[in-house]
Amino acid sequence: MIFKIPVKLKDNPYAIAVGHGILGRLPGLVGALKLGRDAVVISHGRIQRLHGRQLSAAFAKAGYTVKVLNVPQGEKSKSASCAMDLLKKISAYDVDKKIFIVALGGGVIGDLAGFTAAIYKRGVPCIQVPTTLLAQIDSAIGGKTAIDLPTGKNLAGAFYQPCLVLADTAVLKTLDRRQVRNGLAEAVKYGIIGDPKLFSFIEAHSPKLLKGDVKSLDFIVRRCAAIKAGIVAADEKETRGLRTVLNFGHTVGHAIEAAGSYGRYHHGEAVGLGMRVAGRISAAMGLLPAEDELRINRLITAVGLPQRITGVGLARVMALMQHDKKFSAGHNRFVLARKIGRVTVVSDIPSGIITQSIRAYL
Ligand SMILES: NC(=O)c1ccc[n+]([C@@H]2O[C@H](COP(=O)([O-])OP(=O)(O)OC[C@H]3O[C@@H](n4cnc5c(N)ncnc54)[C@H](O)[C@@H]3O)[C@@H](O)[C@H]2O)c1
Ligand SMILES: [Zn+2]
Repeated sequence: MIFKIPVKLKDNPYAIAVGHGILGRLPGLVGALKLGRDAVVISHGRIQRLHGRQLSAAFAKAGYTVKVLNVPQGEKSKSASCAMDLLKKISAYDVDKKIFIVALGGGVIGDLAGFTAAIYKRGVPCIQVPTTLLAQIDSAIGGKTAIDLPTGKNLAGAFYQPCLVLADTAVLKTLDRRQVRNGLAEAVKYGIIGDPKLFSFIEAHSPKLLKGDVKSLDFIVRRCAAIKAGIVAADEKETRGLRTVLNFGHTVGHAIEAAGSYGRYHHGEAVGLGMRVAGRISAAMGLLPAEDELRINRLITAVGLPQRITGVGLARVMALMQHDKKFSAGHNRFVLARKIGRVTVVSDIPSGIITQSIRAYL
């Protein structure tokens, strides 16, 4: 069964299709969009072997031509040289065709392929087929595409909405545990920012979720994708401040990730630590009741995320935080929790409270 979540954008509305074992249904869904008959699948070798062949076969059976372009695995592929390489290959292939791009992979592939689709011929249709939990509930939705520059992550990019997102929860079976935990950090975040029932669901099902139980993961993907779809529809290009709440735990989280040179901590692990710190700041500011802070910390532990910040120092984390978009000219801005399911944006928090709150987890 396919569960469809609408992303209600004024100019370019699209759907997120969620379901178990629905990868083979993609050609049918694409057909209804009348995009063309030539699919260019951007992926990498491992995903291709695990899930891509099935997808290519389904496209071929439905009468599409399929060109697969694999890039190396990992964040290093989100580079200008990799994007350029793809552009050259696509342009050489794209003769007498009407192509659309299919991003098959985690957030790295989604960001890179989305960026490539945005700039090739000033934009060709893009379908996101996220294969990690993080990508299914977060990165594939909302049209943020990017590559990294030597000076920092995601520094070159565009808002470019996909025409369709297809999240097949069956592909999550092949994810390793660390990747599942990584995605669960974002799911916990959605619970804190706006969905107490989702939070309670993760509390009740964390052992099952960690084991990759499909039914529980299916519920999480649908619920989180719907929350993200709603926020994106209300603030497509992050101009109204509504998308900001998605950054809960990310201000400190990003700094921890960067302090570990993107190797020590995965994104979700750093965000888990960032959420602990954000909870501590919220409580220290008198916003969050102690029992809610405790519940947040217990759940972050229950989904297998780190309990302490190790191997990176306070001074480095503080210095890196100054680069955050929400910090400018000596002012700071944090998404803080008032209770589970409700957050607020607070500016100019005393730096002593921030340092004490980070120190609490060192
Ligand atoms: N655009 C956005 O809004 C947004 C939001 C959050 C994160 N991001 C970006 O997303 C990226 C991180 O994404 P990620 O966490 O998905 O990492 P990733 O894309 O690197 O994938 C993680 C690993 O999982 C493997 N993998 C993917 N799907 C698999 C499957 N079904 N089975 C087995 N292995 C599989 C990949 O090969 C890779 O090694 C970062 O570059 C980040 O900047 C973007
Ligand atoms: Zn995140």
